[in-house]
Amino acid sequence: MKIRDIESERIKNLPIYMFQEINSRKLQLRREGKDIVDFGMGNPDKPPPTPVIEKLKEVLKDPKVHRYSVSKGIFNLRKEIVNWYIKRFGVKLDPEEEAIVCIGSKEGISHLALAIFDKGDVVLVPNPTYPSHLYSAIISGATIYDMPLTKENNFIPDLSQPIYDRFPKPKAMILSYPNNPTTQIVNLDFFKEVVRYAKKNDLIVIHDIAYSEIYFSDECKPHSFLEVDGAKSIGIEFYSLSKTYNMAGWRVGFAVGNKYIIRALAKLKSYYDYGIFTPIQVAAICALRIDEKYIEDVRETYKRRRDVLVEGLNKIGWNVEKPKATMYIWAEIPEKFKKLGSMKFSLYLLENANIAVSPGVGFGKYGEGYVRFALVENENRIKQAIRSLKKIFNS
Ligand SMILES: Cc1ncc(COP(=O)(O)O)c(C=O)c1O
Repeated sequence: MKIRDIESERIKNLPIYMFQEINSRKLQLRREGKDIVDFGMGNPDKPPPTPVIEKLKEVLKDPKVHRYSVSKGIFNLRKEIVNWYIKRFGVKLDPEEEAIVCIGSKEGISHLALAIFDKGDVVLVPNPTYPSHLYSAIISGATIYDMPLTKENNFIPDLSQPIYDRFPKPKAMILSYPNNPTTQIVNLDFFKEVVRYAKKNDLIVIHDIAYSEIYFSDECKPHSFLEVDGAKSIGIEFYSLSKTYNMAGWRVGFAVGNKYIIRALAKLKSYYDYGIFTPIQVAAICALRIDEKYIEDVRETYKRRRDVLVEGLNKIGWNVEKPKATMYIWAEIPEKFKKLGSMKFSLYLLENANIAVSPGVGFGKYGEGYVRFALVENENRIKQAIRSLKKIFNS
């Protein structure tokens, strides 16, 4: 055995992490003293709700809460998750069998793939997509069929396309709306079609609603796919506290839906972890109960940033649309720079305008031709970025 070949087959062939090059260059420039306006990662910059922090502090003092927790989440948090689903979507769930707490939804999505996919299983994965949707399936040994999300299909997979009926038959389909990175939203009719399609083709559906609370008008208020009759018999949904409550570092997410899928995930997790630190789970209950005003302020902040960024870009000749939801702008690379490709264009912005964005190709090959801005810088910093961009656009 050569120690340098130590990697398992499972990870050896993982594709290179496309954001790595940008990230290392960004760090290097920062160390050289450059002020980089960072729109790269969807890492919220605002504080969590004050009562959530206070609750954490209070619970920490209890000597009983420092032991191992419960892998699938403490019952009271699962009960609160179920209450949240009723309140927000009118969907009824059983906290014992149909809800599980995850160490962030990324952990849940990744372990779910290991729990339900075998080598050779086929998974329909949107492209572009949040990278864990793809890599978790690849690590599990599954084969991927792309579901391209392009301008032509309005970033929504066309389920009537024959590609999805290929042999071998897919076992599962991953979806996520409001969508990262394309920002697209869908209505309930689309989810009805998804459930019909899944039943007809004997597929399970894994839906990720990390951005369900970040929308910019009431007409665009996102739905849960579980609102559709019968959805629970074919799928599950992941949610995250990272974005809505600015708690990305706390690592709290959950999955709800079909009890057999939840059971498989719980089984695998029981071998891997002892659950999130109990005080964090108790504070998460407090987050799910937080006054709607806090979430309205979160939406308002992203909306203002969205407006400053989109209007600023349009003014300098980079035409982009205002997204209806999410904390991102999915911007088609202007004609003048298109031939560079999204990776080189992102590096070019970093070197010449001190701006970090995510190259579209990092989300999958159909993301080529785009870059993603995450709205995690304040309005003044966004204006500073626009001024730097203007110089490049005029040169
Ligand atoms: C679609 C989507 N799902 C899940 C996550 C990760 O969420 P968590 O912090 O709960 O792991 C992200 C983070 O960017 C995301 O964009």
